[in-house]
Amino acid sequence: MNTIGSELRLTLFGTSHGPCVGAVLDGAPPGMIVDVASIQHEVDLRKPRAGIGTPRAEEDVVEVISGIVDGKSTGGPITLLVMNRDTDSRKYDRFKSVPRPGHADLTARSKYSDCVDLRGGGQFSGRMTVGLVAAGAIAKMLLEERGIRVAAFVRQVGKVRDREERDVTSGVLSRSNELRAATDEMAEAMRQEIISAREDGDSVGGVVECIADGLPIGIGEPFFDTVEGELAKMLFAVPGVKGIEFGAGFASAGMRGSQHNDPFVLVDGKVRTAKNDAGGILGGITNGMPVVLRVAIKPTASIARGQRSLDVKSGRQTDLKIEGRHDPCIAPRAVPVVEAAAALVLADLSMRGGTVD
Ligand SMILES: Cc1cc2nc3c(=O)[nH]c(=O)nc-3n(C[C@H](O)[C@H](O)[C@H](O)COP(=O)(O)O)c2cc1C
Repeated sequence: MNTIGSELRLTLFGTSHGPCVGAVLDGAPPGMIVDVASIQHEVDLRKPRAGIGTPRAEEDVVEVISGIVDGKSTGGPITLLVMNRDTDSRKYDRFKSVPRPGHADLTARSKYSDCVDLRGGGQFSGRMTVGLVAAGAIAKMLLEERGIRVAAFVRQVGKVRDREERDVTSGVLSRSNELRAATDEMAEAMRQEIISAREDGDSVGGVVECIADGLPIGIGEPFFDTVEGELAKMLFAVPGVKGIEFGAGFASAGMRGSQHNDPFVLVDGKVRTAKNDAGGILGGITNGMPVVLRVAIKPTASIARGQRSLDVKSGRQTDLKIEGRHDPCIAPRAVPVVEAAAALVLADLSMRGGTVD
């Protein structure tokens, strides 16, 4: 399925080495001020960075095809298109018979037959997230109009972990460094971790933390469409995401109730909690505290050093050397993607709950 959302519906289209990628966002309220330059800025943040990213150079100019006229949403579907320009498909033919370990080549070919388009990873490429980021920029505008901010940063790269407590401003500040770390010191340590992996012909994983603040109490549609459930569904669609946790997350399992329970307090006449191990969600509903989530991103599957694979046509074990242009660490580029994904879900749930008309 390439469509997600209930009131605010996102459809992604295109493929990595086809003519274009993009998104259709349906359900955005009419009359919304839409700053197209901000959409472009978000998409620019997703581009690979010199030294730590793939050398694939894409201009990624966002074209608005429909749904925005004179800087305002019309109420019709918003279609956002980005042309693919820097494609080199020659190196991908082999992966249909010798699949890359850790990538979707084997599963995609098994499911969709030999007709599947695996050039540049096809529909399984990180490039599909261009449309997600562009549409997410609009969801962010919708939320910001209501005082809700969504921002993410890199919490961990390989063994380098940022151990400070952070809030939404860390995500905003991380825009000043290409690692998308909360501080320049963390960025430098993470950069060294990525360079070291790349020098070994290898890749490294990471954790992206996303915080949404300003959310009112009451967003979320239990039983099944909980805030955690909807965010998890969207975020697991992001290629390379292998885990998600909210608040104290997996550490909750090692805690006692007396430690984990967040005491209720009154702040400026509003019910809040003294700490936030719940990650802003109780019973699948926002509790007025910031929603805090972390996604684990696996090390990039396509690595330069030789790997063991199988020629699935002949059944012979074979060595695979991957050429092509790949990110040694996906986490920094995943930051705007995670922000966009979270914003789309929170905007959709806000509309469903009546917070947004
Ligand atoms: C922004 C972004 C960039 C990515 N770049 C690469 C890449 O250069 N090489 C690669 O092998 N995987 C890359 N990926 C991840 C793959 O697309 C993903 O691992 C693959 O589709 C298999 O899906 P899965 O890891 O979710 O199982 C990227 C993902 C994102 C979000």
